[in-house]
Amino acid sequence: MTTSDSESSAAPENGPKHVAIIMDGNGRWAQSRGRPRLFGHHAGAKRVRQIVEACPDLGVKYLTIFAFSTENWKRTQVEVAGLMSLFRRYIAKEARALKAEGVRVRFIGDRVRLDKKLVALMDELEVETSENERVHLTIALNYGGRDEVARATKRLAQDVAAGKLDPGEVDEETLPRYLDTYVLPDPDLVIRTSGEARISNFLLWQSAYAEYEFIDTLWPDFSPEIYAGLVEGFGKRDRRLGGVKA
Ligand code: FPP
Repeated sequence: MTTSDSESSAAPENGPKHVAIIMDGNGRWAQSRGRPRLFGHHAGAKRVRQIVEACPDLGVKYLTIFAFSTENWKRTQVEVAGLMSLFRRYIAKEARALKAEGVRVRFIGDRVRLDKKLVALMDELEVETSENERVHLTIALNYGGRDEVARATKRLAQDVAAGKLDPGEVDEETLPRYLDTYVLPDPDLVIRTSGEARISNFLLWQSAYAEYEFIDTLWPDFSPEIYAGLVEGFGKRDRRLGGVKA
């Protein structure tokens, strides 16, 4: 990724400003090669860098990726531990490059159940990249849309109980201020790889008006070219957002 003025030259008109991705298919990718599932997760982690790097040229300012869901704890202890170790190593290894490339990193999800060392690395990376604004990368880790709405509602109720919020004034603008994503715009385009057509508890509130792309490619095979094709395709869609065509 360069910082030249030529970036966003390939950006389609009316392209998505915020893309969210459910990175699915690492396990199948590895198994089809006779390798353990974690091999697929490592290959998937390598893809993340390429997709982040592709964003400025495509005019994508915000990228949000689903790395670990609140349901993923149900996987084997070996896989969960392997993923947690991968996240720790990924953050430690990628921090310098992300910082240098102008990427601002944020994490969403419930940190309470995460390992303290991992949380410390997450906190540090958020602070270290907080001045960046070339690409806003949000990593969903121990994230679930329902869990997020429940946590938001709890905080909102606490503010009502403390007299800081009038219940009569709670509306569609109020609740999102309590979500983990409160500083982010809503996603315009949600992509899921690996052929599954479901959203699996990802950005439930935020994706109300998003366009969806469910594609067969397994995440470790998701190339910048495939990504560019989906972003360009978005620009050609007729988005009425509940209204009628002008
Ligand atoms: C889903 O594939 C993938 C995950 C649960 C983990 C996602 C993690 C990565 C892409 C790697 C690391 C990311 C970062 C940010 C370092 P799956 O295991 O459910 O695949 P399957 O459906 O084929 O079994």
